[in-house]
Amino acid sequence: MKHKSIAIDGPAGSGKSLMAKMLSEQKGYTYLDTGAMYRTVALKAIRSNIDTLDGKKLEELIKNIDIKLEIKNNRQHMYLDNECVDSLIRTNEVSKGASDVSKFPPVRLFLVDMQRHVAKNHNVVMEGRDIGTYVLPDADFKFFLTANNEKRAQRRLLQMQKDGKDTTYEEVLADIVYRDKQDSGRDFAPLKKADDAIEIDTSEMGIDEVFNTLLRYLNGK
Ligand code: DC
Repeated sequence: MKHKSIAIDGPAGSGKSLMAKMLSEQKGYTYLDTGAMYRTVALKAIRSNIDTLDGKKLEELIKNIDIKLEIKNNRQHMYLDNECVDSLIRTNEVSKGASDVSKFPPVRLFLVDMQRHVAKNHNVVMEGRDIGTYVLPDADFKFFLTANNEKRAQRRLLQMQKDGKDTTYEEVLADIVYRDKQDSGRDFAPLKKADDAIEIDTSEMGIDEVFNTLLRYLNGK
């Protein structure tokens, strides 16, 4: 039996993580945050003193990397060398590093394999940058969420402060601008709306409004 899949793509801070979580709970699907996987590779590179823009070294790194993905009670946990790194990957340094390492095809192909494997065995709500265009081009539903830079930076700042991270609005905004440019400018599987994705600008929308909009599409109304 083919499993169901919902793809949610968009830039950082567009609201896709929260929506993917809420939708996965509503539908009883597995939630997969693919950004967390790129972040874990970046953390490994940083810990190994590898420049996150050094494609050659990253290609070697990825051959021996020990990454595990655990999904428990619909919560995703990332393990690096058998250590849970869920909180460690949520820093500005790792955000930038994740965008850097995600440019390189060997890194992407390694992670895309893991992502497709999950989608083959579970109904999924998968969020990222290239889910609708590359990872799951046949997804049952595809959404592309956007929002203006200021709103996205505000949202991320609030989230990071809630998680006890020490950062400023300016730092978060700079991170978003850097990553948007790099993620949409790369050659292989860039951040891009799939032709058949439904685009929603969430700048002026509240959480419930975005969620209800997604549900209306899923329910065909
Ligand atoms: O969603 P996020 O902010 O945690 O993602 C971190 C970085 O990982 C993002 O800037 C680009 C990269 N990424 C990607 O290239 N493709 C994905 N499907 C998900 C994330």
